[in-house]
Amino acid sequence: MAIFSKKAKTEERPTFEVLPNHLGIIMDGNGRWAKKRGMPRTAGHKQGGQTFRTISQECADLGIKYVTFYAFSTENWKRPKEEIDTLMSLFKDYLLEAKRDFIKAGNNKIEFIGEREGIAQELLDLMDEAEAETASHTGTTVYLAINYGGRQEIVCAVNKLIKEGKDEVTEEDISENIYTVPECDLIIRPSGEQRLSNFLLWQAAYSEFWYSDVLWPDFSKQDLYSALRDFEKRNRRFGG
Ligand code: FPP
Repeated sequence: MAIFSKKAKTEERPTFEVLPNHLGIIMDGNGRWAKKRGMPRTAGHKQGGQTFRTISQECADLGIKYVTFYAFSTENWKRPKEEIDTLMSLFKDYLLEAKRDFIKAGNNKIEFIGEREGIAQELLDLMDEAEAETASHTGTTVYLAINYGGRQEIVCAVNKLIKEGKDEVTEEDISENIYTVPECDLIIRPSGEQRLSNFLLWQAAYSEFWYSDVLWPDFSKQDLYSALRDFEKRNRRFGG
């Protein structure tokens, strides 16, 4: 399966009056999906990886400019080693697939947010390569949050500013020193949980939220359309 293919011509795709400029997705419910089927949690992650491919492609086809997928949090290191190894190997498979596909990847970009420390060099090299190979693309940017934590992101920014000699910081200072991800407009969280779990804390200040009971491996294009249809109707006032 291509990581990004040119727009599918045959498929009927709804149109939306307003799309989020930046969509965040918390891919939750893989473990429960597997448990329900008597399978190991890792099977849920594998299926979740397929859903990620489908939904990231669909976001690109819809013309959403930025989409961030929460793939591995700074807290996920507490999980059993086998589960962590599976997740890292799924990321690697995806990046190898991406590498084979760069030439026909269309105009989309892959970027990573999160701490590099703790991630294997082999994976870091593939991540760097994916970013470099797609850097000049101007289509959808798919951010993968790996070893990411919103609090850690803000603390790092503040520490950087302190090192630069600041003794007082402004919102602009922090915005300029966190990962260069735009303000988030909509966050989708499947699996019935209704919390942010340290995702895009700074960028989500005025984000809309959309929840669903569907477990991530079952999350479909129709679910994405429902979230976007709902977003279209939101009256966003940004505190005004
Ligand atoms: C949370 O569900 C999900 C994760 C911690 C991992 C998300 C990763 C993937 C979907 C694979 C991504 C693959 C690529 C190629 C980017 P959970 O395990 O906490 O589920 P549970 O709450 O039901 O236990």
